[in-house]
Amino acid sequence: MQQNLKASITGIGSYLPKKVLTNYDLEKMIDTSDDWIVKRTGIKERRIVENGLTTSDLAAKASLRAIKDAKVSPKNIDIIITSTITPDHFFPSTSCYIQRKIGATRACAFDILAACSGFIYAIAIGESFINSGTANTVLVVGAECLSKITDYSDRTTCVLFGDGAGAVILQKSRTMHEIISTNLAADGSQTDVLIMPGGGAKNPASIESVRKRMHFIQFRGREVFKLAINKLTNIIKETAKKNKLELEDIDLIIPHQSNLRIIEATMEKLGLPFEKVFVNIDKYGNTSSASVPIALDEARKTKRLRKGSIVMLVAFGGGLTWGASIIKW
Ligand code: ACO
Repeated sequence: MQQNLKASITGIGSYLPKKVLTNYDLEKMIDTSDDWIVKRTGIKERRIVENGLTTSDLAAKASLRAIKDAKVSPKNIDIIITSTITPDHFFPSTSCYIQRKIGATRACAFDILAACSGFIYAIAIGESFINSGTANTVLVVGAECLSKITDYSDRTTCVLFGDGAGAVILQKSRTMHEIISTNLAADGSQTDVLIMPGGGAKNPASIESVRKRMHFIQFRGREVFKLAINKLTNIIKETAKKNKLELEDIDLIIPHQSNLRIIEATMEKLGLPFEKVFVNIDKYGNTSSASVPIALDEARKTKRLRKGSIVMLVAFGGGLTWGASIIKW
């Protein structure tokens, strides 16, 4: 019966800008090297949005691909939920721009902010709307133009980030990829370790805020590094346990692509082989909210997702926030 079915992923799409910024390009801009970046992060190149395009442009392209994949019409969409830390504007929401650009005229639309974990948070919200019967078709988007808030004169941050977008359609389905459950967490005592301090109510844009470069991403790299490994390890264990699964039952982990060493250390702590994790950080860097849906799309295209397999999406980011979602593929 339709009522007993749970939210499932019925379509996936992603979009990466064409322009590539390689480590060799960065060597010409700052005091760094391809060798350092690859060894410390696993990143070889990242994509950068073309001049004049915005987060909602990338998001709309990814959304139209997900819509086509799900074989629905934009007019079927009831709700658009977008996770982004680089909205086109503080307001109106990026979701409203996406609604217009894809012609989803019936949909209500809003954004959420949970930094790099935002796509998992957005999935949890979309899943609840579907499971409660409030909506039949939800578009969940993770999209970022991180190049717009990256300080390309700061070698400690600028090597990490890239632009891109990913999207999924959620619906009830008898045959498609059911979201078994989503587990979310936050720790507001650590707001300072990963932050863009300028532009909000605390430090509104001013000559001073621009002079102090407050409108760029700032982080305490080593602290974030350790926190990320601990939180990711714990949430993966916790989410498996809540669902009465052993870690070995998970066929593929699709993590937020933050740093290859964070991903490797997490897998090591869990005692899981590296073959069980999907990695594409070498090509795109850290795209925050967009990284999990882009990786999900690529995992499917490269046939890493088999029917019936247990897949875990997992992310950690500013806030702090973290979360994991289990899907039966
Ligand atoms: N090129 C060359 N040298 C560099 C560069 C660079 N791009 N950046 C830093 N260095 C130097 C430093 O100045 C330092 O030099 P020193 O020893 O003379 O002082 C040395 O390299 C080591 O610096 P560390 O900061 O200790 O390097 P580390 O191994 O910790 O790597 C990194 C830095 C990659 C930022 C890492 O800490 C990290 O990935 N942290 C977490 C990432 C993060 O915060 N992501 C934000 C999003 S949240 C998320 O996605 C989880």
